[in-house]
Amino acid sequence: MMRRIHHVGIVVERLTDAYAFYRDVLGLPVVREAEIADQGVRAALLAAGDSEIELLEPTGPDTSVGRFLAKRGEGLHHLCFETANVGASLTELHARGVRMLDTTPRAGLAGQIGFLHPSACSGVLVELATPPGPPAAEERASPLRLKRLVIGAEDVPATANIFQSLFGFSEVAMNGGPRVMLAVGRGSLLVVPAHEVGGTAGMVALSFVAEDFSALTAALRKANTPRLDGTGEVTVEPAGSHGVHLHISRYPFP
Ligand code: CO
Repeated sequence: MMRRIHHVGIVVERLTDAYAFYRDVLGLPVVREAEIADQGVRAALLAAGDSEIELLEPTGPDTSVGRFLAKRGEGLHHLCFETANVGASLTELHARGVRMLDTTPRAGLAGQIGFLHPSACSGVLVELATPPGPPAAEERASPLRLKRLVIGAEDVPATANIFQSLFGFSEVAMNGGPRVMLAVGRGSLLVVPAHEVGGTAGMVALSFVAEDFSALTAALRKANTPRLDGTGEVTVEPAGSHGVHLHISRYPFP
């Protein structure tokens, strides 16, 4: 039913500042930028392999994103899945008794879009989108590919079940343990116990794979981005990435 993670939305103070990191240091190409009046944001989509990153700057403090920023600061805001027919998906979910913010589609940066109520998905704000035109056969050229979104949950099986039953995702076998991985197109959601991620329930981190890992680490070094360098992996600290834990690795995860 859901083809892929279309994008992950990140609230930032100012788009121009966020471009300095996401576009200029990470090298993600800007696909589109526009003001979306009914969402109270100026937003930009940046390509990241099979998915995109959506940067959201509130147009004022009295908007939902402005209030989010005042209360929680910059960081992960919502998750968007691509569906072939957003109107039909919203109708079906509504008919199943799922709490919705939108029951009919409206225009967004990603095409026709609609939001579920955050209480419907264990506190994760989920957007559905149907982009204009046929689905792209190839990934857009980008030096990083989004591979995984990490979600903290008080009850891992319950949260994983919600995503599976609402969106039809299948579980990826892991060697036991308290985590559950769900495949979404070429990417995945990893649901982990909240206590493993500082008690945070909801979206906690993004994982990317770099085409050219040494070029990426050179760019991070040059920009003095706060980070932890590992072997074949770097973790950008939230202070350097507008409030987002970013793991970037040399190789695809198994
Ligand atoms: Co969005």
